[in-house]
Amino acid sequence: MSDEKKILLSGVKPTGRPHIGNYLGAMKQFVDLQDKYASHIMIADFHDLGSQTPDDLRSNTLEIAIDHLAIGLDPEKVVFFRQSDVPEHTELAWIFNGVVTVPYLQRAHAYKDAVAKGKEPIMTLFAYPVLMATDILMYDADVVPVGQDQKQHVEYARDIAQKFNNTYGDTFKLPEPLILESVATVPGTDGQKMSKSYNNTIPLFANDEEIEKAVMSIVTDSGTEAESSLAMKYVERQSQEFPRPVNLFLIHRLFRGENELVSLYKENRKNYKKLKEMLTGDMKAFITPFRERREAIAKDTSAVLHILKNGGERAREKAQLKMRDVRTKVGLPLH
Ligand code: ADP
Ligand code: TRP
Repeated sequence: MSDEKKILLSGVKPTGRPHIGNYLGAMKQFVDLQDKYASHIMIADFHDLGSQTPDDLRSNTLEIAIDHLAIGLDPEKVVFFRQSDVPEHTELAWIFNGVVTVPYLQRAHAYKDAVAKGKEPIMTLFAYPVLMATDILMYDADVVPVGQDQKQHVEYARDIAQKFNNTYGDTFKLPEPLILESVATVPGTDGQKMSKSYNNTIPLFANDEEIEKAVMSIVTDSGTEAESSLAMKYVERQSQEFPRPVNLFLIHRLFRGENELVSLYKENRKNYKKLKEMLTGDMKAFITPFRERREAIAKDTSAVLHILKNGGERAREKAQLKMRDVRTKVGLPLH
């Protein structure tokens, strides 16, 4: 039927406290799109096995679930689940291994970058795009909202779907990435891309003290390469002189309308203290309601676990149906 909703799937790794870059670049889209699409949001715990202690993996999985509920993800509308509650992913990954070549996987940016940084090239790192293809293809996703850095992985999923379909007959849909240009790269306090790995984040659920500290640490002297490239993009878009200090403005515009902000920055030229105070106020107004919701949700962890279990059951039902088709196609018995 033409008015049936298209299917959306995205995944998040349970890697610790999210920051405003994660929120604006990825998480916010999940909530904004939950009415428009038949949505599936998956906590990708299989993807992070071995990168943290077993206790941390379990607690970070619960924490990231609380984070998503706190920003307004509605488990009535969205199938919100843990990847490991659907063991069919690992079965499908093994089947996909049969249609993917080693040289093809060797071209993955994430793998090459990790190895270049000295990471041990274990099989789970190498086969990451294969497992991620199962996440996307298992649920017939039409669209996959992700940050720019995940685009190649969605292309891998398309290629794997195509290869499987060519070999065994039409089985999987070809997904499209959904990337929001305006927030593709949120800058951190030092002017580089905000990232947990760079220690330059503003946590999404920061308390007042953390917000004040983060704003104080925002660099106000210009000159970093990342800062100027982001500023250049802005200047091209707006065709006007860039308000200073550059990095402070680039962060501030995430919390207040740009036009109003340009005038404020003109009026308070050189008064960095005042500008920082204004940013602190705007950030507190933005973050406090999220933090309060989070605190309320975190009081009842068994309700959160119940939501995940329920989501896992719904996801697994779909996965089992899909696997019946896959098993038939590849010649395995049905169970
Ligand atoms: P980090 O770099 O902090 O470890 P992740 O790799 O866990 O972040 O990213 C999780 C999601 O958030 C991805 O979809 C990624 O594209 C998005 N994301 C991360 N940092 C930013 C940023 N600075 N600006 C926009 N999106 C981001
Ligand atoms: N690889 C993604 C990341 O690092 C997380 C992820 C796992 C994902 N499975 C997915 C994203 C499926 C989109 C679709 O952020």
